[in-house]
Amino acid sequence: MSRLIINGLKRLNGSAKVQGSKNSSLPILSAAVLCRGESIIHNCPDLSDVRASINILRFIGCKVSFSGGTLVCDSSSIRSCYIPDLLMREMRSSILFLGALLGRLGKAEMCLPGGCEIGTRPIDLHLKALEELGVEIRDDHGVFHCTAPNGLCGGKIALSFPSVGATENAMICACLAEGTTVISNAAREPEIVDLADFLNSCGANVYGAGDDTIMIDGVSRLHGAVHTIIPDRIAAATWMSCAAVTSGRVILCDVIPAHLAAVTALFENCGCTVTSSGNTMSVNCPYRLAAPGVVRTMPYPGFPTDAQAPIMSMAAVSKGTSLFIENIFENRYHHVNGLLRMGANIKVEGRAAVIQGVPLLHGAQVSAHDLRGAAALITAGLAAEGVTAISGLQYLDRGYEDPEEVLSELGADVKRV
Ligand code: EPZ
Repeated sequence: MSRLIINGLKRLNGSAKVQGSKNSSLPILSAAVLCRGESIIHNCPDLSDVRASINILRFIGCKVSFSGGTLVCDSSSIRSCYIPDLLMREMRSSILFLGALLGRLGKAEMCLPGGCEIGTRPIDLHLKALEELGVEIRDDHGVFHCTAPNGLCGGKIALSFPSVGATENAMICACLAEGTTVISNAAREPEIVDLADFLNSCGANVYGAGDDTIMIDGVSRLHGAVHTIIPDRIAAATWMSCAAVTSGRVILCDVIPAHLAAVTALFENCGCTVTSSGNTMSVNCPYRLAAPGVVRTMPYPGFPTDAQAPIMSMAAVSKGTSLFIENIFENRYHHVNGLLRMGANIKVEGRAAVIQGVPLLHGAQVSAHDLRGAAALITAGLAAEGVTAISGLQYLDRGYEDPEEVLSELGADVKRV
């Protein structure tokens, strides 16, 4: 089992290119199933979750090639509406193939998806949204048999929570439904907008993505398209955290600053200077951070839950006390145990965590239990005196492309063994 070995207290300095967005590429790869032709996706990050999507695409009959960040998917002929458990359990976003297969074939068969254990992660909102489009779902001991006996028809979908995945599943399925679909209380994340841009370039009619009401006028078929994935705002926030805990000066290239507004505001509250021009952001960090104070995770454009973990590591070494409230997932503090082993002072009570900043963390052997928890342990390792060994890299590799290369380029002493 490989581990990341970090020798801490090295100041980060330099520039890094930010990878393409994991949470944009995954729904777009599912949506490619709708297209009767070839799609070319640029800036696609090479992640284990992307590889899992490629396995599913190939299993159902797509021809896929992937090299140098460009993924080519020919979904002219889809031969299976069934996705085996082994492939479904690889990640959470395999559930997005449900809407895609229903849109393309009018039927789908799969079990519950996998994904990081940050909560129960039900799919009730996905299923309810698809039923509004005429889908009938039979749950046979955890295997969902889905059909559209009278065809897919546009409908009104009112989401009780702005679920990113449920919004994406509904958008994907509605593109090939008969008539108009309106999704209210839709998620507003930039990845939703990127998905809509891809769908529209394939010939769909998706309006209002990025707002809380999305309208889709169904069409009879979609063709392939060429699309470039937006930058990964959470990877950018992660590298910003690594700079912040090492009093670093880092320039991030290929970012969209507007996607990081809530994150940037927090860094400025902590005493960092963040300047942006075009698709570049520079982050200059003070010797010692001020505590971020109250951090509430919220749906976009609020503070992103995916940045909560690495930014808790910032709070752990800042001057003062912080209160984190994780409003999105019910179990997203797995990284706290590792931070405590490194000398952090953190108390967790349900969805709340109180962090008393300490002057210095010390290296330790720690293990990651989810993707962003791994990012938190890396951030803490960079801030710690001595050597930190991080296991559980299978979680890290789900969402970060060559993280040790990015950090070494910036001056960190980190290697994978
Ligand atoms: C997406 O997950 C992202 N994953 C997550 O990123 C991200 O944290 C999350 O959105 C919120 O921004 C991808 O895009 C692949 P949700 P998703 O549906 O779609 C509950 C990362 O680290 N819910 O918005 O699963 C759910 O349990 C990952 O990159 C239901 O109750 O998130 C959660 O508490 C982690 N029923 C809340 O809503 C449902 O049917 C938000 O979930 C669906 C969701």
